[in-house]
Amino acid sequence: MSTNRRNVLQGLGALAAGSVLPLSLVKVAAAKAEDSFTFAFVSDSHIQQIKGAKFVRNWDRGLERAVAEVNLMNPRPDFVVYGGDIAQLALPAEIDHGLEILSALRPKVHYILGEHDYYLDLGEYWSKQLGPQYYSFDHKGTHFVMLNSILTHEKWVNKWSSGTERMGVMAGLDDPRGSPFMVGEEQRNWLAADLAKVDKATPIVVFSHSPLQKIFKNWNFWTDDAEEVQALLAPFDKVNVFYGHVHQIQYNQIGKISFHAAMATAWPWPYPESYAQAPSQLPVLTVPMNRGDPFHERDATGWQFIDVQTGNATLTYLLPDNDMRRVGWDDKRGHPMDFAYQDAPIAAQKHY
Ligand SMILES: [Fe+2]
Ligand SMILES: [Fe+2]
Repeated sequence: MSTNRRNVLQGLGALAAGSVLPLSLVKVAAAKAEDSFTFAFVSDSHIQQIKGAKFVRNWDRGLERAVAEVNLMNPRPDFVVYGGDIAQLALPAEIDHGLEILSALRPKVHYILGEHDYYLDLGEYWSKQLGPQYYSFDHKGTHFVMLNSILTHEKWVNKWSSGTERMGVMAGLDDPRGSPFMVGEEQRNWLAADLAKVDKATPIVVFSHSPLQKIFKNWNFWTDDAEEVQALLAPFDKVNVFYGHVHQIQYNQIGKISFHAAMATAWPWPYPESYAQAPSQLPVLTVPMNRGDPFHERDATGWQFIDVQTGNATLTYLLPDNDMRRVGWDDKRGHPMDFAYQDAPIAAQKHY
């Protein structure tokens, strides 16, 4: 274990002892220790305006806590990624209030859009504050891609009499009047051109709001063109995709691509498995997760330590009042295992 890695773990250990973090710290461990770095991932704050300057207090506090804890991390993350859904109903007042809380973060923040930031005015106010809706950048040898995965059919977008009505429908977890998310052709063409410039051995880290895999359509834990995006990522050796939106821990591997969901700072959603009609419609995840304690207000919120350099993730989830869950790469089996709970290994998926 390098000194650098030990320090990261010590820093996390100190934090984990005192609290449960609604965020992820991700380490990118390079061959040379001085090239290694960490970044933090914070998502889904759902800042909600009640009236005027009054906002839902619990959502404010979840985000304030994540900001405070990122600022305490040792070593300091090189940057923070915000995974979308700053706001609940995409109101400028909600986005402003969320950004004001986030402005206390010391590291630079890279943002992606969530549907709750978008469907009132189709991202106009968000973009005015935060810039492009998709882009890429390089950091110490890793290629980062930020996608807008929450677009949908134009016909659906235009069928509502107001943005407020449209946002209200898309804000429901299981509203049958909603529409599936997609990255879309224009952005996929951009991604293909962007990735064409990148060496196949370069670690790729992709951020999307909705999962770039198909988890559960009824709840929009879903991206319609997930397979097309996966096909663009498939030629690379080390690909990790991080997403928010599902407000729960999910880990999956499809081919060489690892998928990691992060908890929300606002509230946890139940696992679709717990929904009576769901099981027959769910894919088999590489590592299934159970809820820690659904009656605990911070159920399944935790921190994740993820080493993305090898392309093989090692994750640790801290669950309130429950045993820690550890998911790590198993060389013999060629896919990650839950060391304590996964009796029968599940093969890596070829498709969802
Ligand atoms: Fe969300
Ligand atoms: Fe979302």
